[in-house]
Amino acid sequence: TTIETSTSTGQEPPSTGQEPPPVREWPVIDLEGTEFDPVLAGLVREGPLTRIRLPFGEGWAWLATRYEHVKLITNDPRFSRAEVVRGQVTRLAPNFAPRPGSLAWADQPDHNRLRKPLAGAFTVGAMKRLRPRAQEILDELVDGMVREGPPADLVERVLEPFPLYVVSEVMGVPETDREQVHAWTRQIISLTGGAEAADRAKNGLYGWITAIVRARARSAGEDVYSMLAGAVARGEIGEEEAVGLAGPLQIGGEAVTHNCGQMLYLLLTRPELMERMRARPEERGPVLDELLRWIPHRSTVGLARIALEDVEIAGHRIAAGEPVYVSYLAANRDPALFEDPDRIVPDRDPNPHLAFGNGHHYCTGAVLARLQLELLVDTLLDRLPGLRLAVPPEEVRWRQQTMIRGPRTLPVTW
Ligand code: HEM
Repeated sequence: TTIETSTSTGQEPPSTGQEPPPVREWPVIDLEGTEFDPVLAGLVREGPLTRIRLPFGEGWAWLATRYEHVKLITNDPRFSRAEVVRGQVTRLAPNFAPRPGSLAWADQPDHNRLRKPLAGAFTVGAMKRLRPRAQEILDELVDGMVREGPPADLVERVLEPFPLYVVSEVMGVPETDREQVHAWTRQIISLTGGAEAADRAKNGLYGWITAIVRARARSAGEDVYSMLAGAVARGEIGEEEAVGLAGPLQIGGEAVTHNCGQMLYLLLTRPELMERMRARPEERGPVLDELLRWIPHRSTVGLARIALEDVEIAGHRIAAGEPVYVSYLAANRDPALFEDPDRIVPDRDPNPHLAFGNGHHYCTGAVLARLQLELLVDTLLDRLPGLRLAVPPEEVRWRQQTMIRGPRTLPVTW
């Protein structure tokens, strides 16, 4: 039998008897800059459906890399997140201990129930109201950097603290607790602090979240901790679930730091792109989306799903119980949707990228992240017209062995 690689889900040959593709090892390689992972590129060429083994967990999983299949799988309730929690699916992360309440591991109707208390907090309207305060926070950070004068590390001075402060604003972390909460968060996401310190920080943060949820039981505030506490008081979610919901949100800002790090690196190393952003500030929005499409945000793949019944995709039968990954990164480079996909095309239109995922698990913080990226790019470009790298591009050091890719530091001058 030959391996069929039909590209359409509509007219598949019957899959019975068709050999599954070989299982490919996917090591975490240390990638430099914004290079597209060559292993993923190989899997895309081999696709549309391949099988992979990641460094941790057990066995293998299917991998979908085509836009069409990624959308299909992420919209189909026959692929379950909750089921993944029962086993040790092959994965990127060494540790796997999901907490109750985690949105990422919930299926419907539980996902809706858990998402409901947050519904008002991350909307376009709420983010609009947040904008002036977020701008104020950012201006203070940029002021501090400018006061001390160049050169400066943009990651340390702006990209890392800004999302932390903004998230605390949305969550409703009291002023007096912010330093402690930020210290725990930094420790949890630190690459160099060690597993023990990270565990201690996690216990600290989750203990603090439990206390604040209890303390806000009768609060009428519009902050996330008040909303979660209200939902607990009304019996809509359990206290443990509220804590499991809040944790990833409190830590989630990290994605903005590294995504924006990649974004600024691209702008600072591609003069024609920077020129365009400066010359036509009113047209920055679409460029931002094109960068979101193009940026290799993460290492390998995110979280798996498990087929609850047999599903046929691209001529292959995914059997009930088998794990499946989708690659949003690969989908964002699918030539069926994006002409000349490896090129950054500033006025690409339409641009239906999947940088924030798709379906029920679409990123909770997408509007918040978009707001922060917009403010960061606008403020840095407009306030620092001479902004440039203070070192040759090849001397920028990149995060290694991590889930989210980005520059470790961005030494700049202006
Ligand atoms: C999920 C991207 C920022 C909170 C996701 C997913 C992606 C993503 C691809 C997974 C979708 C899936 O599982 O299929 C990004 C990017 C960001 C960003 C590119 C920044 C540029 C944030 C921020 C927060 C956040 C700032 C919170 C404050 C979450 C949560 C989930 C999620 C809670 C899980 C949602 C669920 O499973 O229902 N994000 N994210 N993200 N993100 Fe983000």
